[in-house]
Amino acid sequence: MNIRFDPSGPLRGTLRPPADKSISHRAALLGAMGSRPLRIDNYLKAADTRSTREAVRALGAPVEAHFDGIVVCGNGLQGAHAVGRPIDVGNAGTLMRLLPGWLAGQQGRTFTLDGDASIRRRPVDRVIAPLTAMGARLRAAEDRYPPLVIDGAALQAADYTLPVASAQVKSCVLLAALVADGVSTVSEPVPSRDHTERMLLAAGVRIERDGTRLSLATVEELALDHVVVPGDPSSAAFFVAAAVLVAGSRITVEGMGCNWTRTGFFRILERMGANIAGDLEPPDPGGPITASEPVGDLEVSAGSLTATTVSEAEVPLAIDELPLVAVLGCFADGQTVVSGAQELRVKESDRIATVVTGLRGLGAEIEATDDGFVVTGTGGLRGGTLQTHGDHRLAMAGAVAGLASVDGVEVVGMEAAAVSYPRFGDDLAGLLEA
Ligand code: S3P
Repeated sequence: MNIRFDPSGPLRGTLRPPADKSISHRAALLGAMGSRPLRIDNYLKAADTRSTREAVRALGAPVEAHFDGIVVCGNGLQGAHAVGRPIDVGNAGTLMRLLPGWLAGQQGRTFTLDGDASIRRRPVDRVIAPLTAMGARLRAAEDRYPPLVIDGAALQAADYTLPVASAQVKSCVLLAALVADGVSTVSEPVPSRDHTERMLLAAGVRIERDGTRLSLATVEELALDHVVVPGDPSSAAFFVAAAVLVAGSRITVEGMGCNWTRTGFFRILERMGANIAGDLEPPDPGGPITASEPVGDLEVSAGSLTATTVSEAEVPLAIDELPLVAVLGCFADGQTVVSGAQELRVKESDRIATVVTGLRGLGAEIEATDDGFVVTGTGGLRGGTLQTHGDHRLAMAGAVAGLASVDGVEVVGMEAAAVSYPRFGDDLAGLLEA
């Protein structure tokens, strides 16, 4: 599906972003691992989280609709049913990386996880390594790519240091640690999103953080009855970027998750001089884990930007918003540099390659590096055609570029947005009408 995004008038009004994708995935999985019904309010309605809902159902945990959310009835930590066919994760990398943590400890049962063409290009050796060290048995194509076959086994506690900061890998090991024997520790080089830690604490798990080192003891059962999913800051980011770029814009974002491990993009924007104010949780690296997810509002209006440098420690806190940093860099005064972001190469597309090629085609001065990109602001973007390569975040970044461009942008493959934000077009129309 090709959609044209023409230069627009100001964005005005209030946005309620869709439910957080990361938190929705985690809630459904913990629901399946629990032994009592878990009510999840505001569960994300999108392709990725539909895959998780269906996976959990296939594993024997009934899922029912409940007002604006779902109720998941798990069979306990050892209660995953064997599935006689591959579990289809669709395009959902988070499901592909988190679920093996739980399934690896389901003794005597075998599971296969597979997904779409993009998933089959995304490495799973990063979860095979720690799980194998815990005693799990897993197989993958070329030892690296899905389909991933998991033979459930008795697991020993982990003592694992992540080679790169990845919340998906960290969460996988934490879920395995729940069903392993003893106290596990997991260390990450720099903090990444901590939704799993917060939700496990809320479920009564003894999980502690000391700097970037986590320790977690196994439990008999999870005690979690209710999760309310906040709005997704990564989805809000598209309209926040558009409001910063399109002259005369002023929007309010309501009900957004403000967890500091997810809001690095907004801090980058502040540094670039954007007019942005709100309820962001202050960064607290190494501080104690809290069981709650902060929710708040943001006020954003258009203004000029100066270039910035995004370094390695900031990357995990803004990982999914880095394509938008590239778009903003085209409009900023000076050279915007993103480094330490080689993880972008293994996202839904190789986001260093697809962002650089895509924005160049719109007139940007942008160069790829091994671990990021360098953008020289030229005061704007001409426009043209952008291929999404089936990547939802590239599709929506292309739309934002179009609204702020001179000639408009034709986005080829806009349907990819449905992976995380099916209502994207409607929400845009609402902000342009208001
Ligand atoms: C996610 C973590 C990030 C992010 C992805 C969702 C999560 O991946 O890019 O969209 O929900 O844990 P990595 O942790 O592998 O960087």
